[in-house]
Amino acid sequence: MSQPVFLFDLDGVIVDTAVYHYQAWKRLAQELGFDIDEEFNEQLKGISRVDSLHRILEHGQVVLTEADFDRWATQKNTWYLELIEEMTPQHLLPGVADFFANCRTNGIRCGLGSASKNAPKILEKVGLLEAFDALVDGNSVSKSKPDPEVFLKGAELLGVEPARCIVFEDALAGIEAAEAAGMKSVGIGDPTVLTQATMVIPGFLNVTVNDILTKINNQ
Ligand code: G6P
Ligand code: MG
Repeated sequence: MSQPVFLFDLDGVIVDTAVYHYQAWKRLAQELGFDIDEEFNEQLKGISRVDSLHRILEHGQVVLTEADFDRWATQKNTWYLELIEEMTPQHLLPGVADFFANCRTNGIRCGLGSASKNAPKILEKVGLLEAFDALVDGNSVSKSKPDPEVFLKGAELLGVEPARCIVFEDALAGIEAAEAAGMKSVGIGDPTVLTQATMVIPGFLNVTVNDILTKINNQ
């Protein structure tokens, strides 16, 4: 069979920006007079900025005018950009650089499938922009995960059938999106949380392309 194609989520898979998103959202909630915890934050992972703010406001039972909604969404992004400003290649999650090098060696093409509008900026900061053959981010999709749009676009850009794509995801919504796209998925994190993933690994440390392909093909 011809080589599969890998599609990667960004936040929480390649870089640990999930914690920065959480800090910025928590600060916003607190300024609006309520709080969010890590458990609530799980459902924000993989969700666009606008959809995340809707969920947070509903959680805090806060209603905003359209103008205030836009202002808070922009404010959250300003805080988030401050937090990611100092990112360097050191901020890649453990094993990620080696895994991408291993993809190259094995002739595996890689695409990005992220809901983040800040994705190109982050990839540039961590020096990984050139590892990708296609980029799909929050600027090019209209529907949030669990809608499969982001991954289907990635497959289209790379000119492959969805069934040939393997998605790497840390978010429940992202695993659902992969499934809806007809793709296999590698959950990054806790198998008791990412129950719908085809297989789950804790991260990329000491993981090779061969390990993934051998395991996923036996599922
Ligand atoms: C990713 C993150 C989400 C974030 C979304 C939009 O999917 O997992 O937490 O809300 O991107 O990010 P942005 O950088 O555009 O606000
Ligand atoms: Mg993620």
